[in-house]
Amino acid sequence: MRYTVNRVSFLKGETEVAPDKSISHRTVILSALSPGLSRVSNFLQAEDTQATCRCLQSLGLDIEQRGQEMLIKSPGINDLEEPEMVLDCGNSGTTMRLLAGLLAGRPFTAILSGDSSLNKRPMGRVMKPLAMMGAHFMARQDSFPPLAIQGGDLHGIEYSMPVASAQVKSALLLAGLQAQGITTVYEEAPSRDHTERMLEAMGATITRIPGQVSVAPCDRLYPQDWEVPGDISSAAFLMVAATIVPNSEVLLKRVGINPTRNGILDVLRSMGANIEVLNSRTSAGEPVADILVRSAQLKAVRVANPIIPRLIDELPVIAVAMAVAEGVSVVNDAAELRVKESDRIAAITSELGRMGVVIEPTPDGFIVDGSKSRLRGTNVNSHGDHRIAMSLAVAGLIADQTTNIDNAEVVNISYPEFWNTLQALSRQ
Ligand code: S3P
Repeated sequence: MRYTVNRVSFLKGETEVAPDKSISHRTVILSALSPGLSRVSNFLQAEDTQATCRCLQSLGLDIEQRGQEMLIKSPGINDLEEPEMVLDCGNSGTTMRLLAGLLAGRPFTAILSGDSSLNKRPMGRVMKPLAMMGAHFMARQDSFPPLAIQGGDLHGIEYSMPVASAQVKSALLLAGLQAQGITTVYEEAPSRDHTERMLEAMGATITRIPGQVSVAPCDRLYPQDWEVPGDISSAAFLMVAATIVPNSEVLLKRVGINPTRNGILDVLRSMGANIEVLNSRTSAGEPVADILVRSAQLKAVRVANPIIPRLIDELPVIAVAMAVAEGVSVVNDAAELRVKESDRIAAITSELGRMGVVIEPTPDGFIVDGSKSRLRGTNVNSHGDHRIAMSLAVAGLIADQTTNIDNAEVVNISYPEFWNTLQALSRQ
């Protein structure tokens, strides 16, 4: 599908954003651990999380959306069923990597596969430590899906992650719960900690000190009632949009502001954005707030570690903010972008480049000269990546002439309401 975006005069209004994708995946996957009924309100109904639901149904969970609530009934980890079919994880790396950890301790065989994007993404990063714990894997070139897992008797390990990854950390924690002894994961920069928070709430013994997290095996975990906050990664598109379209004022309600996820607030503020965090509170173990954004003139910034894991998914839309900032902005230490749903360094630099942005890829990031850039609408492509599609739509709001985004239906991966919300906030 081609989606057309035109320049708008300003953005105004208030809205909720899509429910958090990372937390929604985890409500289903972690519910598998505990026998009984878990309830989830504000579950993200999108392609990625629906793939997770179908996989867990194949493992014996009963999952049903009833009214505003998602009801998840699990037989418990010890009574998961060996799946008869390949588990199709769709486009979702979180589904595949977390399931690899969950299934590593199960005494049966399962095969995980995905779409053409996911089947190009590296799984060696979870296979290697899970194999050290005692699981058996087969994959193309020892890394690429389809992935066959023969679960085994696991033992705890100590593991230093070569790159900060919440997906790898979560897989090891899920396996560690089923292992003999303690499993400890070390990370150099903090990655999102939803799994740790949620497992603690379920009764697991999790020990956290900065840079490391340990889990002890556990006989019984308890089902929960979860409430999913708005996704700051989805809010990011609207934050950048309201910042760069002059005379805008947008209130984003009930957005998760977990400190391992909110690097975008720090970066936009250091660029000069006008962002107020209002009504901060805690909801089901996660910090949430309303975020008020008014337009502002931006200046260039350098973004590099240790902040990268706290805004990894927001870098494509941060590139759009950099395109209108005064001066030369640089992103470093973000080579991980090359192995996301697309090669996001190649995708965002080529498509923003077509729109008149002076932007250059580097091996681990990009360089943007906002002073020399002038956005103009043209035909661009999402590269099959939801976050690239939404970033290009934000750029289109301030571009001269029309921006046509091909493969724009891909926003359904994480934010099916995106186009409606953007339209509702836009004033011509
Ligand atoms: C996610 C972790 C991040 C992020 C992804 C979701 C998660 O990936 O990019 O969109 O839910 O744990 P990595 O763990 O590979 O950095």
